[in-house]
Formats: sequence, C-alpha cells, structure tokens
Amino acid sequence: MSKRVLSCIQPTGDIHFGNYFGAVKNWVSLQDQYNCMYGVVDYHAMTMPYNPKKLKENTWELVYNLLAVGVKAENLFIQSLIPEHAELGWIFNNFASYGRVENMTQFKDKSKQSSQGKEGFISVGLYDYPVLQAADILIYRADFVPVGEDQKQHLELTKEIANRFNNQVGKEYFVLPEMLRTETPKIMSTADPTRKMSKSAGEKHNISIFADEKRLRKQIGSAVTDSGEPTSEMSPGLANLFQLLKAANNLTAHDEQMAAYTSGALKYSELKGIVADTLVGLNREFVEKKEAITADKKAIKNQIKASSAEIRKRAQATIREVKDLCGLSNVKF
Ligand code: AMP
Ligand code: TRP
Repeated sequence: MSKRVLSCIQPTGDIHFGNYFGAVKNWVSLQDQYNCMYGVVDYHAMTMPYNPKKLKENTWELVYNLLAVGVKAENLFIQSLIPEHAELGWIFNNFASYGRVENMTQFKDKSKQSSQGKEGFISVGLYDYPVLQAADILIYRADFVPVGEDQKQHLELTKEIANRFNNQVGKEYFVLPEMLRTETPKIMSTADPTRKMSKSAGEKHNISIFADEKRLRKQIGSAVTDSGEPTSEMSPGLANLFQLLKAANNLTAHDEQMAAYTSGALKYSELKGIVADTLVGLNREFVEKKEAITADKKAIKNQIKASSAEIRKRAQATIREVKDLCGLSNVKF
C-alpha cells in the first residue's frame, strides 16, 4: 500500500506565497505518488480571538482556494467534520509533557500577540494546539508531513507523544512521521525580511496568492532590500527575492540576476520587476481557476462533506484501537 501523507492549514486568511512555496505546492505534487489527506483545521483557528461567522466563511474560502491551486477534492477534509481529532487530542494530553508544550515557539509568539490584543486573553486552546496537531497527524498514521520549517518543533513533539504512547501500551502502534520540506521551507516577509511571511503578523507581512495584481506588484516593488553598498553577505531582503524566483521555478531569471549580483551590476528595480512578473503569472492562473471552481459552490460543499465522511472512517478505526489500548470503554451505541 502506498505511504500516507497528511498536512493541514488554518482557515485564518488567504493562502500566501509562504504557505504556497513552503508547503501547499508540495501537497499538490505528492498527490500523484501517495495516499494524501489535507485538512482545513478550523478547531485550530479557534485558539486565537476569532469571529464565529467569519470562521465558517474562511473555512469554505480556503477550501475553494486549495482546490484552485490543485489539491484534489477527494483528499480534502474539514477538521471539525471529523470530531475524532479532538477526541484523540484529549487522549494525547495525557501523553504530552507540560514543560515541552510550554516551550513551543509558536505558543510563545502567539501568546505574546494574544496578550497584547484588545482582550489580553491567552486561551488554554492556544497552549494545547500542538497536542491537537499531533492528533491530526497520528490519527491517520501518516508517514510524511509536508510543512514549512516553522513546524519542525511541532513535528518533534508529535514524535515524542507517539513514542510515549507506544511505550505505555507496549506496542509500536504509531509510526513516527517524517517531515517533508520544499526547497524553500521559509519564505520571509517582504516588508521585514528578518521575519517569516505570516498571516497573523498583519497585512503587509504576507502576499496572498490570489491578491489583486496591482497590490501584488506594489508589495514586491516596495520590498525592503538594502542600501546597495557592497557587503560580504547578501542582505536578507535580496536573498528573499532570489528565493521567490527559485521557488516559482524561474531559474533562468534567477541565474541571470545572480550573475549580475556577483559582478556588482544588479539593478534592484529590475530584479523586483522580474519577481513581480513571475508571481503575477502564477497568481493569474490561480485566480482564473478559482473563478471556474466557484461557479458551483454548492457542488463543492457536497463533495467536501462526502470526502470528509470518507476520511473520517480511517480516523474512527484508529480511535477504536486507541481506546482499547488505553483502557477506555468502547461500546457501539
Ligand atoms: P498556516 O498558515 O500557519 O496554517 O501554515 C500552513 C503551512 O504553511 C504550514 O505547513 C506552514 O509551515 C507553512 N508556512 C507558513 N508560513 C510559511 C513561510 N513563511 N514560509 C514557508 N512555509 C510557511
Ligand atoms: N500548525 C500548523 C500551522 O500553523 C497547522 C496544522 C495543524 C498542521 N495541524 C497540522 C500542519 C497537522 C501539519 C499537520 O501551519
């Protein structure tokens, strides 16, 4: 049987080029080779202050967007349609170390953001988030998890949970999943190339792959670079522009511009123009595909509900076995 691939994305805004080049592009190509499952994780999106009506809208919008970039409907599910994720998350709370979870970088970053927000509130859900993520992965006994570099720590915690569970039940029940990276696992913000491109950091720190062309060009045009003074190392802003060319597979332009950089003849405005043209090319493809797909939203909703029901059967089978192994009651009502 072919190996299993699992990955997820939060419905907290548009897919940006960091998501795409760091993870989602890989999701699409892996579908030819493996048994793939991709989740829109709405339970995760509740961990920061949120608006319930918007959550549902964002969830379906993300489904359309993922389909537009090439994810197959039969591989896609919505997390809250498979409540066994949350059930396994609870069970895993008892196999996760408090101190390790407390040390997660994403929790530290987001709790800072949350505490500085209007309500000054940090939820237990935000703290517990990586344990639910471990459940998302292990409930399908996934072999591979294609994600960006920022998820490395969460993957390590997942393996620790799997190990502790296996030791407790005296059986190698869970496979230890492996992280899959793209060649560009960390795309930086063009407005501040010392931090990663991210949805939660604010509008200027991410570029939507469905962005309006004018806005996209403006964001690349105003990308932070450097003063142009010769330095021993390339600045993070320039390196990020080169990285974007590479990620979008415009290798000819990448190599030409790199040669210009090496010889001291690089024109920043020209490089930015090429990066913008390259991303706009992709962006147009995505926008057109999305228009075609969203012509019949009802049909898509039905398809995704059906695929979630199908994928749920695998999650239910795991939960039944896990409950038996853990000494919990297992009755078919
Ligand atoms: P999220 O938007 O946080 O749900 O992330 C969805 C996927 O995109 C995850 O696999 C992340 O690791 C990946 N990702 C998010 N931001 C970036 C980035 N700036 N560069 C590369 N990958 C990213
Ligand atoms: N934590 C991931 C992120 O912020 C999203 C996620 C949730 C995920 N569950 C997952 C990724 C399971 C991979 C596998 O991007």
